[in-house]
Amino acid sequence: TQPIIIDTDPGIDDAVAIAFALFAPQVDVRLITTVAGNVGLDKTTCNALRLLTYFEQHVPVARGASEPLIEPFIDASDIHGKTGMEGFDFPEPDQSLLLKDGAIEAMRTVIMESEKPVIIMPIGPLTNVALLLKMYPSVKHNIERIVLMGGSTARGNRGVMSEFNIATDPEAAKIVFASGVPLVMAPLDVGLKALVLPEDSAKLPAMGKTGRMAYDLFKKYRGGSFNTGLKMYDPCAIACILNPSLFTFADTYVDVELNQGLTRGCTVVDLKGYLNKPANVSVAVDVDSQAFRTWFLESMNGCI
Ligand code: BDR
Ligand code: CA
Repeated sequence: TQPIIIDTDPGIDDAVAIAFALFAPQVDVRLITTVAGNVGLDKTTCNALRLLTYFEQHVPVARGASEPLIEPFIDASDIHGKTGMEGFDFPEPDQSLLLKDGAIEAMRTVIMESEKPVIIMPIGPLTNVALLLKMYPSVKHNIERIVLMGGSTARGNRGVMSEFNIATDPEAAKIVFASGVPLVMAPLDVGLKALVLPEDSAKLPAMGKTGRMAYDLFKKYRGGSFNTGLKMYDPCAIACILNPSLFTFADTYVDVELNQGLTRGCTVVDLKGYLNKPANVSVAVDVDSQAFRTWFLESMNGCI
């Protein structure tokens, strides 16, 4: 099995991605690290612990960055609710899963001690991953790749051109994109096509613990998009690992705009090669929406 670290800010779509990873036989979740994003760090950490407690999974959790490197922190509780995972009654979190080490040290230990190169799957702002790569560049040798949800090849959802995870910490994203580590990116515009339709959601309550949880969370997600289709952004990242044939990929040069202006925090995805730079990212540029829905329900069925 493939060792994997999930770096996350749960988050309703994060919760689904985490569940799929925990119950997929192909990957072994060695560590979950938390970051400020959809809501503040105390809440995202509590949510990661609540998910693991609910799923009865003994995966260690480490607290990461409570603020972006330079940007002031602005959350997305308008989308995910005040707690970040509003709508479901979770058990009290098992605090014994929380490591004393912070996220950077914990990631370093897991990566350096792994018998096999590790995949890092960031599905929140990239603050922790950037700090890891800057503090301990030697970990790069034992990172298989970084498979992230973030950025956009088109328009944004936080700004006109910027996607939430990248715009929350653009400097961190710049560090990760320039790191030389093999990168796979599931951008916003692919997530927009990775929809779970109401007839899919209707099947969830009968699918066991995870399905019941997802159904209740989905009813609260993004103020009523339950009926028009729920965008499964973060599950696209785990889908890129577990079932890459759902996507079309393009090897592309990607950089992040840092200037203070209209486009700060936007990913510049050079699909046509204007910049003449070598590709640093395998970008998911399309998804088979129908096949994604089937995969989503199959994955949910594979969960407890
Ligand atoms: C990303 O932002 C968050 O709200 C989601 O969890 C996802 O990681 C989508 O832009
Ligand atoms: Ca997220």
